[in-house]
Amino acid sequence: MSRSCDPRDAADPGGARLPAPVAGAPLAVVVMGVSGCGKTSVGEALARRLGARFVDADDFHPPANVEKMRAGTPLDDTDRAPWLARLNAVMRHSIAKGEPVVLACSALKARYRAALAERLPGLRVVHLAGSFELISARLAQRQHRYMPASLLASQFEALEAPQDAVTVHVDAPVEALADAAARALEKP
Ligand SMILES: Nc1ncnc2c1ncn2[C@@H]1O[C@H](COP(=O)(O)OP(=O)(O)OP(=O)(O)O)[C@@H](O)[C@H]1O
Ligand SMILES: [Mg+2]
Repeated sequence: MSRSCDPRDAADPGGARLPAPVAGAPLAVVVMGVSGCGKTSVGEALARRLGARFVDADDFHPPANVEKMRAGTPLDDTDRAPWLARLNAVMRHSIAKGEPVVLACSALKARYRAALAERLPGLRVVHLAGSFELISARLAQRQHRYMPASLLASQFEALEAPQDAVTVHVDAPVEALADAAARALEKP
């Protein structure tokens, strides 16, 4: 696992920065990364550790997006905009109720993360990072409802790895990754 020393000083390739954390606010966390990196598995385990609500972004796609992905067509930003806005609203709703929340969402680009962080000061990001070889091997063993393995290459091309995030390398068991992420999130 790695973490940049001073995330606010680090260059962000996408040009978008997350809002500064608010002391004492309930934790909102996005667990991000390419398809099959373990967002759902690790996100659920992390939510259990944090006593947080778990939300999977896949469950909030409009039907048109689901159809596109089933057909093997990558989504464009127009497809994603209402979906990201809805996910942001879901997280804000949790935080407004005082409920910590963990969202599993690919969030590959800085502008998607910025959309998720709208009016959500202190949103934290956990990036599950791994090699194409490791993640494609995991995907090959799994039948997924939306994501054919053939889309994995385009996911790696689209990925803008965040600088201002907790980065966890996924070559360890799910529970160990969730432990590492929870420990890292204890630091501001
Ligand atoms: N750390 C891990 N070690 C071994 N297997 C893992 C690990 N993390 C996830 N897996 C397995 O890899 C597959 C993909 O995991 P998961 O569904 O959690 O990924 P995901 O990022 O949510 O995928 P998607 O983007 O398609 O929603 C699953 O079969 C899961 O059981
Ligand atoms: Mg998933």
